[in-house]
Amino acid sequence: MLILGIESSCDETAAAVVEDARLVKSSVVASQLLSHEKFGGVIPEIAAREHLRVISASVEQALQDSGVGFDDLDAIAVTQGPGLIGALLVGVNYAKGLSFSLGKPLIPVNHVHAHVQGALLDTSYRDEEIYPCIAAVVSGGHTNIYFMESPVHFKLIGYTTDDACGESFDKVAKLLGMNYPGGPAIEALAQTGDPVQIKMPKMMASSKDLMMSYSGLKTHMVNLVRQLPNPSQQQKSDMCAAFQREALSQLVRKLSLASTLYPEAKSVVIAGGVSANKVFKQLLSEAMNGQQVVFPQLKYCSDNAAMIAAQGYYDFKNQNLPQNYQNLDWEAYAQYPFQDFIQKSQS
Ligand code: KG4
Ligand code: ZN
Repeated sequence: MLILGIESSCDETAAAVVEDARLVKSSVVASQLLSHEKFGGVIPEIAAREHLRVISASVEQALQDSGVGFDDLDAIAVTQGPGLIGALLVGVNYAKGLSFSLGKPLIPVNHVHAHVQGALLDTSYRDEEIYPCIAAVVSGGHTNIYFMESPVHFKLIGYTTDDACGESFDKVAKLLGMNYPGGPAIEALAQTGDPVQIKMPKMMASSKDLMMSYSGLKTHMVNLVRQLPNPSQQQKSDMCAAFQREALSQLVRKLSLASTLYPEAKSVVIAGGVSANKVFKQLLSEAMNGQQVVFPQLKYCSDNAAMIAAQGYYDFKNQNLPQNYQNLDWEAYAQYPFQDFIQKSQS
């Protein structure tokens, strides 16, 4: 089954053609990084306008790169949320128009859930080798741990109670005078730092559940910078290394606990922007002794449309869809029960 994926939830306009959830025929990602960099974060109005400017060309490029014609597509999958509303509306309405004109089904996809599929793109894993699994989506907006019985069953078993992990990297980087996004900048500087030079609080280490917290770590860094307003380059590297080690160790501790609580899990799948971090990969692999751990290829860690097409494939195949998706009577954010949100508000 050939699915066109469209993604416009934040600051990447992306389009991709994917066959049967794994084989990426094309993946176009137009990053808006340069438009937002000078503001130190994503400006929603600029994001929406940039999506509008490049969405058509991105979809056409994805089709051209894949060698697939519009008529060959089986369906169109689009990020319905969560994300910036103005940005989402561009992708959703473009996809609706395309779906209507081509007479192809349109599948609304949850962006956070789709990240998990990003880890499996361009691999030969069969679903039976992966599921049931523990999956972590660690990005700039989310830090969620799921138990998944299948690609469409997301049981939220842990999440951050405040900042997301990636967000804390971004905030600490800003504090230390580094550019957005902070994750890659901190990882780079941490390479020359010693993580044990600076004592860090161990976040949520004594709690017996899978909840996480990042704001305390950020406050700790703010206090450190107050005490040492002009750190040397080595001190800055040490701060990055210590912060990075604890930010990731918290995740590693919770994922280890999750795999004890869910012994039936065949794998631990990591996804989202923070999964690009090599120290994370190393710490987790060491802690998981023997458990199958799957990280995405670097190009699929951050936002892309191939993961949207892959999740769309499963949602479509399993009819995991809102009732009225076929008549296009749905909007970004509306009428689609986001399992995460419901579970969080009930807990
Ligand atoms: O998944 P993503 O591209 O966008 C969403 O938030 O949905 O994730 C972006 C986040 C940013 O907070 C960024 O700082 C973080 O992922 N990130 C990293 C690394 N690369 C990106 N965090 C730690 N280490 C990295 N190497
Ligand atoms: Zn994302």
